[in-house]
Amino acid sequence: MAATVSCIPTRSTAFIALLFSLFTSGSATDQVPLLMWSNGSLPPPLAPPTAGHITSSEQLSAYFTSAFGPGPHTLLLFLQDKLSKDDFTAFGDVFGNRQDSAFKHLEAAVQSSSSSVTFPALRWSDSSSVPALLQETLGVSPLLVDVDSLPHLDISASANNLLLISLPYCTSVKKPCKEVLQENDETIGNVLSIMTSKDVPYTAIYTGLQPSRVIKEPSTVNQPAGRVLLQTVENDVKPPIMFNNTGTPCIMLWAQNISVSFSPSKWIDLSAQTPLLDGSMCNATNSLLVLGYSAGISLRLSMSQRFYPVSARNWFTLDTVELRMNGSTASFVGNRSIYAPVEYSFHCQSVTSLRDALLVQDSLDFNVSDWNLNFVDFQIQGFGLSNKTNFSYASDCAGFFTAGIWMGLVSSLLMLLIFVYGLHMIMQVNTMDRFDDPKGPSISVPQTE
Ligand SMILES: *[C@@H]1O[C@H](CO)[C@@H](O)[C@H](O)[C@H]1NC(C)=O
Ligand SMILES: *[C@@H]1O[C@H](CO)[C@@H](O)[C@H](O)[C@H]1NC(C)=O
Ligand SMILES: *[C@@H]1O[C@H](CO)[C@@H](O)[C@H](O)[C@H]1NC(C)=O
Ligand SMILES: *[C@@H]1O[C@H](CO)[C@@H](O)[C@H](O)[C@H]1NC(C)=O
Ligand SMILES: *[C@@H]1O[C@H](CO)[C@@H](O)[C@H](O)[C@H]1NC(C)=O
Ligand SMILES: *[C@@H]1O[C@H](CO)[C@@H](O)[C@H](O)[C@H]1NC(C)=O
Ligand SMILES: *[C@@H]1O[C@H](CO)[C@@H](O)[C@H](O)[C@H]1NC(C)=O
Ligand SMILES: *[C@@H]1O[C@H](CO)[C@@H](O)[C@H](O)[C@H]1NC(C)=O
Repeated sequence: MAATVSCIPTRSTAFIALLFSLFTSGSATDQVPLLMWSNGSLPPPLAPPTAGHITSSEQLSAYFTSAFGPGPHTLLLFLQDKLSKDDFTAFGDVFGNRQDSAFKHLEAAVQSSSSSVTFPALRWSDSSSVPALLQETLGVSPLLVDVDSLPHLDISASANNLLLISLPYCTSVKKPCKEVLQENDETIGNVLSIMTSKDVPYTAIYTGLQPSRVIKEPSTVNQPAGRVLLQTVENDVKPPIMFNNTGTPCIMLWAQNISVSFSPSKWIDLSAQTPLLDGSMCNATNSLLVLGYSAGISLRLSMSQRFYPVSARNWFTLDTVELRMNGSTASFVGNRSIYAPVEYSFHCQSVTSLRDALLVQDSLDFNVSDWNLNFVDFQIQGFGLSNKTNFSYASDCAGFFTAGIWMGLVSSLLMLLIFVYGLHMIMQVNTMDRFDDPKGPSISVPQTE
């Protein structure tokens, strides 16, 4: 694998390489990425990064010790409340052609720096570990600064400085994640330009106080695609919930865990019960699955399908999920993100009304605002089953991030790198113009005939 360090031929490819190294590491479970750049020279990481390597805090500490030897250092620590490498894939400039990357200033700063190092996966355990490690290494306490106070701050270039810039992460539903990250990026840009105007050499670090997403990657034996096959041989895989309309299956639902909560963090696990399906219905355009559980709890999932001229095909959407209990109803809308071609099923590892939700509360009744739903390993199909008793091909909500896609993407990036490098070499050959110097003696070729 390519090195994560600055030994990449051109600066323009440095950021690609950096992203590249971010993508090739393993699962995002309990890890935060760390980007570090400087106009001085940074040593390469002590252990050469291998795919999926998770850096421990001892390794990071050793690296900081080698990077910040004797002599004054000014360190800017951009510490975002939360960060995961998925944030770069979701909001960043993955293909180099997205004009609306949320990390424009960060990308520009890393590109224009003379060296940069990436730790794609830092084991995250203690939320204060990176600031604490830096404090220990530099022997100074972090100074919390903001963009407004920084211009008036006297920074002595002859002593160690640890400036901490705290950045928020998108926790409120009011502001889209991307906007928050863009504002953070603006802040990074402003801080860097203030530092440049102060003429203090610095090293900058961008990392998160904790992971923004703790995603358990599904283990390979439990891949959703394999479930249909496994179902016939393994008895411990429960059958899907199936609603038949006039004798033929028309709605199928499978979820490893269905749980609901009516007050914060008190979950009721419904997956062990076999629900009654009374009230379910389906016709050519609408499907309604009503799951009746004990204690007066019921779930109503309504789906519809229609023809979308833009894509020239029929799609189905999960429009609403209603949670009813003893006469009260909480309604959740699918936020238009739960959809699939009508011949397919929809699969998602997590369909929840909690943070980063696919389901969004849409109830008028204020009393139910605490109600929540959580489906784990969710698969649904409401159309196109026609006599089949297993799911059709699944359209996955996380399809963009599956291993296969990344493998393809990473190998294309590698090819691109090789191509760019080759092009670079060819350009060098063309510009070797020592013999074209018009002032020098021209080359004479003796005539033989
Ligand atoms: C590094 O130095 C170059 C040239 O002095 C400058 O253009 C660039 O903005 C600097 N980069 C950073 C990240 O300070
Ligand atoms: C629905 O139909 C399928 C296939 O015809 C059958 O296997 C299944 O038992 C039926 N389910 C119910 C609840 O009738
Ligand atoms: C289902 O999820 C709930 C809450 O998330 C949890 O309490 C319960 O143990 C889970 N059940 C299973 C079988 O995993
Ligand atoms: C299907 O059911 C929905 C809801 O009950 C109804 O509005 C719609 O007209 C029905 N469509 C057909 C083709 O019967
Ligand atoms: C709904 O009401 C019934 C009877 O009053 C009660 O037994 C049940 O626990 C209630 N359900 C919930 C989820 O509290
Ligand atoms: C999905 O939900 C988020 C958060 O509530 C909201 O900002 C966004 O506009 C919704 N998207 C759609 C397509 O409704
Ligand atoms: C909702 O709460 C209000 C006051 O808290 C109460 O008067 C009302 O009956 C509740 N509504 C339902 C449907 O429980
Ligand atoms: C479903 O299968 C049954 C028997 O296997 C058959 O009689 C029926 O015509 C089939 N229905 C459709 C829609 O293919």
